[in-house]
Amino acid sequence: MKKLRASVRSHRKPLANHERRRKCALSSSQATPSASDGQAKPKREELLQASVSPYHLFRDMADVTTFRRNLLSWYDQEKRDLPWRRWVKEEANLDRRAYAVWVSEVMLQQTQVATVIDYYTRWMQKWPTLQDLASASLEEVNQLWSGLGYYSRGRRLQEGARKVVEELGGHMPRTAETLQQLLPGVGQYTAGAIASMAFDQVTGVVDGNVLRVLCRVRAIGADPSSTLVSHHLWSLAHRLVDPARPGDFNQAAMELGATVCTPQHPLCSRCPVQSLCQAYQRVEREQRSALPGSPDIEECALKTRQCQLCLPPTKPWDPALGVTNFPRKASRKPPREEYSATCILEHPRATGSPLILLVQRPNSGLLAGLWEFPSVTSEPSEQHQHEALLQELQRWSGPLPGARPQHLGEVIHIFSHIKLTYQVYSLALEGQTPVAPAPPGARWLTWEEFHSAAVSTAMKKVFRVYEDHQRGTRKGSKRPRMSTPSSRKKPSRGQQVLDSFFQPRIPTDTPNSTAQ
Ligand code: ADE
Repeated sequence: MKKLRASVRSHRKPLANHERRRKCALSSSQATPSASDGQAKPKREELLQASVSPYHLFRDMADVTTFRRNLLSWYDQEKRDLPWRRWVKEEANLDRRAYAVWVSEVMLQQTQVATVIDYYTRWMQKWPTLQDLASASLEEVNQLWSGLGYYSRGRRLQEGARKVVEELGGHMPRTAETLQQLLPGVGQYTAGAIASMAFDQVTGVVDGNVLRVLCRVRAIGADPSSTLVSHHLWSLAHRLVDPARPGDFNQAAMELGATVCTPQHPLCSRCPVQSLCQAYQRVEREQRSALPGSPDIEECALKTRQCQLCLPPTKPWDPALGVTNFPRKASRKPPREEYSATCILEHPRATGSPLILLVQRPNSGLLAGLWEFPSVTSEPSEQHQHEALLQELQRWSGPLPGARPQHLGEVIHIFSHIKLTYQVYSLALEGQTPVAPAPPGARWLTWEEFHSAAVSTAMKKVFRVYEDHQRGTRKGSKRPRMSTPSSRKKPSRGQQVLDSFFQPRIPTDTPNSTAQ
């Protein structure tokens, strides 16, 4: 799409968007296990921990041991059979095992397990090794990633694989620290996940699921995106991770967050660490304290006003929320609103579905390298949107005299930080003349080809609007064609409104409206 670009500037090693966000919310410089596991701990962390109320810590080693034992035996019984777990268990080659974890963790960032399974299986069938991925094209990567969202993830993964193959002799770095240092897009979380699951490094991880579990078990109600809370959560994760089974422990903590300690309706009665959960105990005490003659509720030894990990005085405990008082919801900026017009340009064929025109986005920025229908960005009430869209169409198709795209509907798609509203149009070229070859950067595709092309979810939604419309008009045996002034019928009231929005004001065969 013209104009819609994300300017991503990297300074040192570039981080993918999801890792950048994660880094901000969850980063910690303490990637070392706790002293109780027999290893050194930075002084800074010790100082930090000394000022924290025991209420938010796991000071007692017996509690740590119980937490590990209960969580792991629950995981051994309840864990889901997920394809990446099979790779970890069965793959003896460490580089392949690490690659398999890497792919899964990147796909699982911001995407549900149920959606990832199929993509992951296809990916690992197509590129079972780092070398296979390194020799793939970006087009192939985007094609397989199509519909998964956050497309830079796939690109970064491939860049990383190339780096491992071309610069690191095909061997994955073996520690969380070096993984993070050397691989593009690999941040603290992914590095910890790969190192613990593939190489058994004793290092904790904090993703969104683990964050929720930790905030509840230690009643952490302060803003989880603050540096202080983030440091504390990483520190807790490193303290708790089981040195005998670090990878399983980390997966178990994530599994607990995903299946039991869920955001809205946690299943506390099925929780293996319920007895160690401060949030759960607070619910129980609150209920008991409602009875006459009950003792005061035990809380953080520091007064809430002084404790930087408790629920803040401005957001006190809400009895209606129970354990979901934790973690405190991060206040999110609403996504920026943008508007676009997009047009499906059809070329009818003698048989079968018409061909449709797709154009490729630039190789950097938002949705880099993906294919889309010719589109322009605009303001919602922009008067000249139609002119810009027609010009854009003609850039690819050649002159379209008298063209009048038909408005089909609207699609709203939320990208990570942008709410994009597309006005969807279609325009059919007349006749079944041989298709002129598309200029570089454009392609005529059949509908079937569209479905397996490297297109974004937003474009799939746009295509659905078009397909629904086609089905409707087919039933009525009338398909939209490029209309000429003489063939136009009197429009309906609603169509008039849209038409006034899309009335051409300049001749469409101006000298600069030629195909490129
Ligand atoms: N979410 C992030 N990583 C995961 C994993 N390894 N298993 C299940 N869910 C996850």
